[in-house]
Amino acid sequence: MASQSFPVDTLSSPQAPERSFIVQPVKDPHSFSNPRDIRVRHIDLDLSVSFGERTLHGTAVLFLERLNNEVSRVVLDTLDLNILKVQAVPADETFQAARFEIGEGDPILGAPLSVELPAGVDRIRIEYSTSPEARGLQWLEPRHTSEKKDAFLLTESQAINARSWIPLQDSPQVRMTFRATVKCPEHLMAVMGAANNPQILGNGNYSFDMPQPIPSYLMALAVGDLSFRSLGPRTGVYAEPSLIESAAAEFSDIETMMERAERLYGPYRWDRYDILVLPPSFPVGGMENPRLTFATPTILAGDKSLVSVIAHEVAHSWAGNLVTNATWNDVWLNEGFSVYVERRLIEEIYGEPRAEMEAALGLEELKEELTRLDDREEVLHGSCNEGDPEDCITKIPYEKGALFLLQLEKTFGRTRFDQFLREYFDQFSFQSITTEEFIHYLKQNLFQRNPTVAASIPVNEWLYEPGIPPSIPLPSSQAFGVVEDEARAWLEGRKSATDLNASSWTIHEWLHFLTRLPHDLSLEQIDELDRQFQLTASHNCEIVHQWLLLSIRAGYRPGLDRLEEFLVSVGREKLIKPLYEELVKSEPGKTWARAIYAKARPGYHPIVAKKLDQVVGWNK
Ligand code: BES
Ligand code: ZN
Repeated sequence: MASQSFPVDTLSSPQAPERSFIVQPVKDPHSFSNPRDIRVRHIDLDLSVSFGERTLHGTAVLFLERLNNEVSRVVLDTLDLNILKVQAVPADETFQAARFEIGEGDPILGAPLSVELPAGVDRIRIEYSTSPEARGLQWLEPRHTSEKKDAFLLTESQAINARSWIPLQDSPQVRMTFRATVKCPEHLMAVMGAANNPQILGNGNYSFDMPQPIPSYLMALAVGDLSFRSLGPRTGVYAEPSLIESAAAEFSDIETMMERAERLYGPYRWDRYDILVLPPSFPVGGMENPRLTFATPTILAGDKSLVSVIAHEVAHSWAGNLVTNATWNDVWLNEGFSVYVERRLIEEIYGEPRAEMEAALGLEELKEELTRLDDREEVLHGSCNEGDPEDCITKIPYEKGALFLLQLEKTFGRTRFDQFLREYFDQFSFQSITTEEFIHYLKQNLFQRNPTVAASIPVNEWLYEPGIPPSIPLPSSQAFGVVEDEARAWLEGRKSATDLNASSWTIHEWLHFLTRLPHDLSLEQIDELDRQFQLTASHNCEIVHQWLLLSIRAGYRPGLDRLEEFLVSVGREKLIKPLYEELVKSEPGKTWARAIYAKARPGYHPIVAKKLDQVVGWNK
């Protein structure tokens, strides 16, 4: 690929606002790299995909910017990469062998690759291949796909897995543009979180351009048997052919969602918004890869009841992708803001009662998580200094973060707070910021204008104390009150399942009902509910998940049969990990769980498998 020039500075593009805040780079505990001295600004990738070997092989040309003239080594992050050759590329495009060194390794962080830069050289070329066990890559057998015909490859780079498939500065403070060529088997399609062209179903050669600078955790690639369906002028969906119809129907509100988001938070800066529906073993609900959200097929419920995952990923187009957390210690700036924005979008499109129900369910999940975490893990900022950043991505940054913003909204009023957020996204667009920088901005732009009102916000408590600050307005749903009354009447024997007033319940009301049931339901009670409402046969994965938890607790046979099929086909951590955790609570359950796990594990993502290995006590 021609690699002479690249779009240097989006920060000085006409879109960028007047900036009155200077963002300072900080030390990232999860990266070996040295972006404060020398920074990667652009990457040209040239990769070949080998399903046979389960590797990517190729080159990365890194364009560097020197910030400290005294430093002549660029340090990159790598994890299990096989570095084959490192060259310096001077302006005359000749390639010279460069001195490099791979430092001491760490199982979580990988190993630093430092490359000596000859004077005047600001480009290096690295030839490398990935390991078949690369943490950021998932290689699926045909049997793990919906179509069951072809293999499938997908990446998941968040939080620190990009380094397992690209040597780069794997810190969310480093933003890069990129271009890529990808060679894959002829009958498959490659897509990236970049400008894609779905019309070009080539001869297995694809090229991509990403003109907006992104942090490494948003680097994304997928290869498989994919079709495309347009949903609007700048929106569309990719999925395996047999899912494309249902995906298009499920996501038909997406263009409206984008319009509402723009009206609230300013222009969408990424040109297109497409969704890629992955095979069911995709480890998360959704991943906000810019221009191309990756999504689990488990949200294809047929009634749009689970599209809040998509609203959440759309929200990241502002919160996270545009204004990015500087380190994983600041992840609530991505996730808390996105949950808040997600609920605003759900309210815009599906109305306030649904947004309230989703917020109330989120609060229940947060309260449940608070029973498991220790005080150190419950703070919004500062719990993620060491170890695996995945471990600090709990409900705290998501739901506690969103509650903090909700308090700001309720205190200052929607109009004022909406304006504040919109200006915040503008002010810090295409930058990565710390919690301190956000708080500084908050004080100057929201608090200072109304100090009396601001005095009621316990900022330090939100950020540095465990739990939820007392006396804040918590989300609640009227509809849920009615559901609770029905549940009580049934549990106390005042109503049979047939008399339950549940015919008009939405999925959210059902979820509330199921999560509120006591853990010691009898087999008769479970059976009664199932006969009346066919819960074992539900097509809604969230309902099935809750139902299977109840089935495990009661030892309900039809539920357990469904459980096996569910665990073998679904790989989304949120839906399966709690089921394994419930199973291993009993000895027979543990034996059964291990037998199922042996069958299911090859379809799970390496990150999920690593966590589940611990849950079930798996020895390879
Ligand atoms: N960015 C996350 C997914 C993620 C988090 C991947 C941490 C790897 C490490 C994404 O935006 C997300 O939060 N997804 C949620 C859905 C959402 C509705 C809360 C998920 O996958 O469950
Ligand atoms: Zn998110």
